[in-house]
Amino acid sequence: MNSSRPTPSPTPANIHKEALGTLDAAGLTLDINYQGISASAWKLLFSRAKKAGLSEFITDMFTGKVVNASERRPALHSALRNLLKKPILVGGEDVMPAVSDVWRRIERLCNKWVGITDVIHIGIGGSDFGPRLIVEALAHVPDINSRGMRMHFLANIDTSELARILNRAQPNSTRIIIVSKTFTTLETMMNARAVVDWMKANNCTKSQIAHSLIAVTTNISAAKEFGVKMENIYPFWNWVGGRFSVWSAVGLPIALQYGFETFKRFLEGAQAMDIHFQTTPFEENLPVIMALALVYQQEKRKIKSYAVIPYADALNLFPTWLQQLDMESHGKSVGRDGNRVQLSSPVVFGSAGCNAQHSFFQLLHQGGDIIPIDFIVVREPMSNLPEASAHHRALLANCLAQAQALSHGKEADNPNEVYPGKRPSSLLVLPKLNAYFLGALLALYENRAATLGVLWNINTFDQPGVELGKVLAKPIEAALNSKSPSIKATEGIDSITAERINYLIS
Ligand code: F6P
Repeated sequence: MNSSRPTPSPTPANIHKEALGTLDAAGLTLDINYQGISASAWKLLFSRAKKAGLSEFITDMFTGKVVNASERRPALHSALRNLLKKPILVGGEDVMPAVSDVWRRIERLCNKWVGITDVIHIGIGGSDFGPRLIVEALAHVPDINSRGMRMHFLANIDTSELARILNRAQPNSTRIIIVSKTFTTLETMMNARAVVDWMKANNCTKSQIAHSLIAVTTNISAAKEFGVKMENIYPFWNWVGGRFSVWSAVGLPIALQYGFETFKRFLEGAQAMDIHFQTTPFEENLPVIMALALVYQQEKRKIKSYAVIPYADALNLFPTWLQQLDMESHGKSVGRDGNRVQLSSPVVFGSAGCNAQHSFFQLLHQGGDIIPIDFIVVREPMSNLPEASAHHRALLANCLAQAQALSHGKEADNPNEVYPGKRPSSLLVLPKLNAYFLGALLALYENRAATLGVLWNINTFDQPGVELGKVLAKPIEAALNSKSPSIKATEGIDSITAERINYLIS
């Protein structure tokens, strides 16, 4: 017999206590009423941020001080969206003339971009997620001014993606953008060589190929050596972390597909969020509040993961972008002082709602762990179809209902039907889907990441943990190339891996 009782109606006693309510920055609205954090707890959190030296860190980061101590570098991705061109000195030299020069070159390239049917953007990680996300998101904007080129993103070395792209692209009217901060990344270089070979195989001349190649990198000499003409190399600088690089020429596909003005609007939205982050008291500062809320949930509710659910198909790739930002930045156990840290990045996951509701929301509601959620919605409908308003209403209703259900829970006699409730979430609202608000959204999370680094005492801007696997792959790849399955454990290959190699090549 179904013995569940109706949800108790919300009263001040069973709603989480409202503390900060609703806040705005760069046009985005954040509602944290379901975080369940009391006014007195917020007070403590803000004073903790002050004691951690967050204000000083923000000033240091935006003025080009070395905040990435292990790599002895500034983290100046904000300079790439500093459209006001406020001087920023690195080693005594203003970086803005060089940044502005790249903007001018991108604009010029957009203006002479004719007759191109396909662009193959080759890059991985931070050289892929950002531009892929924004190009895909803007494609959902009704009436966007798009060149309508086939924009292919090639990241993995699994040749299925390569094969699919080469099947569709027309070699004579294709441009290839090789994006790699280091210009040494295995996947990117293998793919770049494969695409050049495809052009050769399709009778493109040497000069045609040279004309087609564009590089975006900090390693100019390696790009030249690869065969990219100097005038087709778009530089960025080692003070831009790979996962923060979409604002540089790494974002070229955004400008080429939707025009330089749209790319500029993207930078403007991010710049507005940077100004908010630098100038707003912590008590109304969105990145700071979001970071503090997460730290509170880690300490108070012992959370180990959190979810981000954009109720917009256009933002389906947002969780992937955020996974690199958060987990590559803070998936660490050692702090800036070399000691073990108490807290670091939770596991980040997510996908677009409503789809996610039909996948893992069961666990969010009734699973054994509490998982905070960032819900993201866009206020305006996503298309011009006659059904758009009705569909959008249903979409929003589902998002709001999930947040309410997670917060209030539901009592029942049957334990199987109990929803424990008190599961925290925030709601972030974009007025509409456009380049400006997308810029603000990404910068919001970047600045939140920088804040978390300060609160956790972790260097946000290095990623030493990605190196070991890359080094070990080299002897293993050589062993996979051997003729007979008689590989023995040796330097860099243990006995289990040796057996696996033998199995795979036999
Ligand atoms: O995965 C490690 C990493 O270094 C990321 O930080 C970076 O975004 C990605 O590889 C790609 O690096 P690159 O732009 O140098 O090819």
